[in-house]
Amino acid sequence: MPLSWVEIDLAALRHNFQEASRRLGDRTLVVGVVKSDAYGHGMVPVSRELVACGARFLAVSKYWEAQELRERGVRVPVIVLLGLEPEEVEEALHQDVRPVLFRSDHARMIHSAAVRAGRKAKVHVKVDTGMGRLGIPMDEVPAFLDEMATLEGLDIEGVISHFAVADESDKSYCEDQVQCFRSVLQTFHQRGIEVRYAHISNSAGLLDLPHAHFQLVRPGIMLYGSQPSSELLRPADLKPVMTFKSRILQLKSMHAGRPIGYGRTYVTHAPTRVATIPVGYDDGYSRLLSNRGVVLIRGVRAPVVGRVSMNMITVDVTHIPEVAQDDEVVLLGRQGDDRITADGLADLCSTISYEVYCSIGKHHHKLFIDGAGGET
Ligand SMILES: Cc1ncc(COP(=O)(O)O)c(C=O)c1O
Repeated sequence: MPLSWVEIDLAALRHNFQEASRRLGDRTLVVGVVKSDAYGHGMVPVSRELVACGARFLAVSKYWEAQELRERGVRVPVIVLLGLEPEEVEEALHQDVRPVLFRSDHARMIHSAAVRAGRKAKVHVKVDTGMGRLGIPMDEVPAFLDEMATLEGLDIEGVISHFAVADESDKSYCEDQVQCFRSVLQTFHQRGIEVRYAHISNSAGLLDLPHAHFQLVRPGIMLYGSQPSSELLRPADLKPVMTFKSRILQLKSMHAGRPIGYGRTYVTHAPTRVATIPVGYDDGYSRLLSNRGVVLIRGVRAPVVGRVSMNMITVDVTHIPEVAQDDEVVLLGRQGDDRITADGLADLCSTISYEVYCSIGKHHHKLFIDGAGGET
């Protein structure tokens, strides 16, 4: 029995995929965003489930993630959001991956490799419509397309952009981005480039901006069961997919006036029952949760007392009389009628659910379960 583990509920993942699909018209397909180990949920099993649900594309950040998907038998087209490095191009051509393109030297490199291989490389050109991060600036698009016109080894299958504030309630900046995106698509059309897949929407765009769905949408966080933010105008009915569990390693009684943990930041003010749990910041349980976090034991909330250390936390269980060593502890997810949410943990750490999932998912053995059906 591991000291701590993560359970991934594939039934919840399917439910969330259906929630996303329900919002889409017939001509829009889903790209399942499975980068960063599917936000800590396990890239390969999550990808297999999403493909079985109907995801027609997957998106990862780096080529090695696409390689792993291929090695593990996942066959749908994979979009590589950060593009390809020179040494990856040859092999990538044979793996049916679709690099995102935002540099003309990369375009030339992929073109040359494609010509050598006697094939065309499908690429998705990224345009910066207002995110200011990755992508060709709007005013450089015509020159980029002039150059692309000479590179017959490339097949511009897609045009991609990304929203900066789709998760905020004021959608005016998003509307500006959509307008820029449409004008870019018009430019491609005028050059005789018929793009099959235009895509700009993340989860927030999918939920709140139905007129920005185009041919592909790229949901990530909603598939894992969290709203992109609390400001959404049309939030979805989502089920959290990840549960983070551990068990009580030691239970002890302490007198009043005793310090707990590094720095002695907590001192018992009465006789106290303290449970030590083998989870720390190395397990993705942030040190910012020192004296702030809450866990569930026997369905009851127990506060973290003292500092989170590398591999342990301590919680006050004085109010749970029947508590016992080896009791299951839920640090994220449901136990009984209560739930610790990723958004709740994120608020305590001044971050977002995305980071909570990635950090917890990173170091853990994952148990894949199927709703009430148990382990898969
Ligand atoms: C380019 C791109 N598309 C889509 C997504 C998915 O976004 P979300 O998880 O908010 O749905 C991300 C996530 O960061 C991204 O970087």
